[in-house]
Amino acid sequence: MAASNRSFSLFFFFLFFVDIIPTLQAHIAEYDDYWKQREVEAKEHIEKAYNPNPEVVTQHFNHHVARYKTKSLSLMGFNSTRRHLRGMRKGGPCQATNPIDQCWRCDPNWARNRRRLADCALGFGRGTTGGKNGRFYVVTDPSDDDLLNPKPGTLRHAVIQKRPLWIVFARSMIIKLKQELIMTSNKTIDARGANVHVAYGAGFTIQFVRNIIIHGLHIHDIVPGSGGLIRDAEDHYGLRTRSDGDGISVFGATNIWLDHLSMYNCYDGIIDAIQASTAITISNCHFTNHNEVMLFGASDSYSEDQKMQITVAFTHFGKGLVQRMPRCRWGFIHVVNNDYTHWLMYAIGGSSHPTIISQGNRFVAPPNMAAKEVTKRDYAPPQVWKSWNWRSEGDVMVNGAIFTQSGDPNASKKYAGNTMLSAKPGYMVPILTKHSGSLDCIRGRPC
Ligand SMILES: *[C@@H]1O[C@H](CO)[C@@H](O)[C@H](O)[C@H]1NC(C)=O
Ligand SMILES: *[C@@H]1O[C@H](CO)[C@@H](O)[C@H](O)[C@H]1NC(C)=O
Ligand SMILES: *[C@@H]1O[C@H](CO)[C@@H](O)[C@H](O)[C@H]1NC(C)=O
Repeated sequence: MAASNRSFSLFFFFLFFVDIIPTLQAHIAEYDDYWKQREVEAKEHIEKAYNPNPEVVTQHFNHHVARYKTKSLSLMGFNSTRRHLRGMRKGGPCQATNPIDQCWRCDPNWARNRRRLADCALGFGRGTTGGKNGRFYVVTDPSDDDLLNPKPGTLRHAVIQKRPLWIVFARSMIIKLKQELIMTSNKTIDARGANVHVAYGAGFTIQFVRNIIIHGLHIHDIVPGSGGLIRDAEDHYGLRTRSDGDGISVFGATNIWLDHLSMYNCYDGIIDAIQASTAITISNCHFTNHNEVMLFGASDSYSEDQKMQITVAFTHFGKGLVQRMPRCRWGFIHVVNNDYTHWLMYAIGGSSHPTIISQGNRFVAPPNMAAKEVTKRDYAPPQVWKSWNWRSEGDVMVNGAIFTQSGDPNASKKYAGNTMLSAKPGYMVPILTKHSGSLDCIRGRPC
């Protein structure tokens, strides 16, 4: 009797345990019908957004990069240092230096044609349209005083609306979020033309939603929020536990495009994508002064993370960075044409056999002899990780940087396509990423 009682309660303990873990991580204190429904729908979208043939996406990306004309770029001088590039006069009418930027930056009427940005994503986040089919919402008020009934004109009021919206800013501003900003589906946040900082408060939460574009913001000095009652939709609010202090937290979400963000000094991650979030592109960003930069997958026991498919492109990993650029679990990560100029420990790491295709990046190792290795594998001996597909192709290694490859030597051929359709070689990366981070776009001129 006693024994069966014990196993009975043990059984319940495990049930409880299994059930409670995602809820705790989700920061949803009350898992009510609204959130259960949002989760069910999100899981369906993950199934749909997951691509069983990721090589179709990586080859499509590389094809666009290969097609992108570099004739004008050659005048700028390849193999230049970033400082040299900064020192150059802004020459020519259009500053677009990669195929994503070329899609919109040369249009002097970009401000009248804002929604065209929605056609520009490449990589796994391709097809993310954000609020393309919605109206404009102009944020006029930087305050965040009422979490339950956000004031019209505030960013929080904008992101909880049910309908698709293209959110822009009336002027430059600093938005200090009292608590995490919980977004709903089908939204674009477009800061072009204003200098908008989301800083000194909580960060973004993209949880169980889909189709989000965030473009052109400065996001920095993000701290954990204490939690409490927060409105997360027009017709719902709920109790949240403490937020982690990530700049952007992507949780069980699909079709996300994060472009031209300048981010630094967040309490936890700069960008975390977890709980099988997929169909994501992170491009043209500039990250500085941060320890754990990007985490893709938070648990070695959550095999659903195999669905994660993420492109990291044209991003500058700059001064003051330490590790996790990114740190991956389970999923498929295409790391292409990024400039890694600073790390203290390592650049790219992971566990639970993620596939990492590194192409046409530049890795500049730090002076520390013990930190020359780009890659770091956790919780597995070499005889296990030797089968993980971590491939480096066309990467430029500077200052003694070492990328330890593993897995199938044919994998990069498979995913990268033939050499005719390859990404740009790593030595061109300082130019491809020259305009990373938030841009100063002026109306009526090419940006
Ligand atoms: C730049 O450097 C790479 C590798 O060192 C070399 O192959 C390439 O020809 C150089 N390009 C130019 C334009 O100097
Ligand atoms: C988002 O937009 C899509 C396509 O326009 C629509 O089918 C879907 O219902 C919207 N999702 C939400 C949650 O509003
Ligand atoms: C890689 O491809 C070559 C030629 O296509 C083939 O001969 C070789 O067996 C392949 N290697 C693996 C490990 O699949």
